[in-house]
Amino acid sequence: MERGLELHGIGVRFGGLTALDDVSLRVPPDRVVGVIGPNGAGKTTLFNVICGFVSPQTGSLTLDGRPLRPRPHRLSRLGIARTLQGTGLFAGLSVLENVMTGASHTARAGFASALFGLPRSDRDERRLRQHALDVLDDLGIAGHADAAPGTLPFAVRQRVALARALAARPRLLLLDEPAGGLGADDIAELAELVRQLPRRDADPCAVLLVEHHMDLVMAVCDELVVLDFGRVIAAGTPDEIRDDAAVTDAYLGALVEESAP
Ligand SMILES: Nc1ncnc2c1ncn2[C@@H]1O[C@H](COP(=O)(O)OP(=O)(O)OP(=O)(O)O)[C@@H](O)[C@H]1O
Ligand SMILES: [Mg+2]
Repeated sequence: MERGLELHGIGVRFGGLTALDDVSLRVPPDRVVGVIGPNGAGKTTLFNVICGFVSPQTGSLTLDGRPLRPRPHRLSRLGIARTLQGTGLFAGLSVLENVMTGASHTARAGFASALFGLPRSDRDERRLRQHALDVLDDLGIAGHADAAPGTLPFAVRQRVALARALAARPRLLLLDEPAGGLGADDIAELAELVRQLPRRDADPCAVLLVEHHMDLVMAVCDELVVLDFGRVIAAGTPDEIRDDAAVTDAYLGALVEESAP
């Protein structure tokens, strides 16, 4: 049986501050798992541990039961892709070229030689280009392939960033706050798109979604993990989480603090 990504007792300290404390969770291959929690709960730190940007002081990770020591430059070879807060698109490249960078590790000649048109890479480049176009088409934005990212509305750029991550054909996609800066309609569309990822025929992938936005998380996740002050305070289906007193307390507590003068 495939096990997916597992975190076992992860602990991260920044000086005297405990950002993550004994955090364990699993992202099975065919699931969308959400990590939620109030400001400062440790969501981004958790994301950074999985990406290899932060090394935990305690605990371990496994991928399909095998030890995983994440390094940012090795992620795509492990079948893990990510988007970051904000879109992080390359302003000097077209939408299509941005998406091609996501798939570059699959090309034998490498993206640089493809981009600069070295002769041996012609076939690779055509293949990359076609694959990138297919991904853009899947996400309904192939019409923007030749545009410069800066000329597009934020919601479309967000989708280009998603296309770039998916172009690597990941089996696990990590999303950090993908709904940030989106309006209600765009969030609903994004929810539908993310929900389909593990269930689609071509290149299905599991998703770990780190998100503040409750509506999105509730709409797309099969399972949720709730962090508060670096600890897992609840885990379960969206329905179970909605009724959990500890979760309500954590969020209500945060709301009261935010509305305090
Ligand atoms: N590089 C760092 N150095 C020191 N402290 C840090 C660092 N990164 C995060 N922290 C602290 O660790 C705690 C968890 O932060 P983190 O960014 O993971 O929370 P979060 O859940 O993503 O919050 P938000 O909802 O605001 O994005 C916070 O108290 C934060 O100030
Ligand atoms: Mg964060």
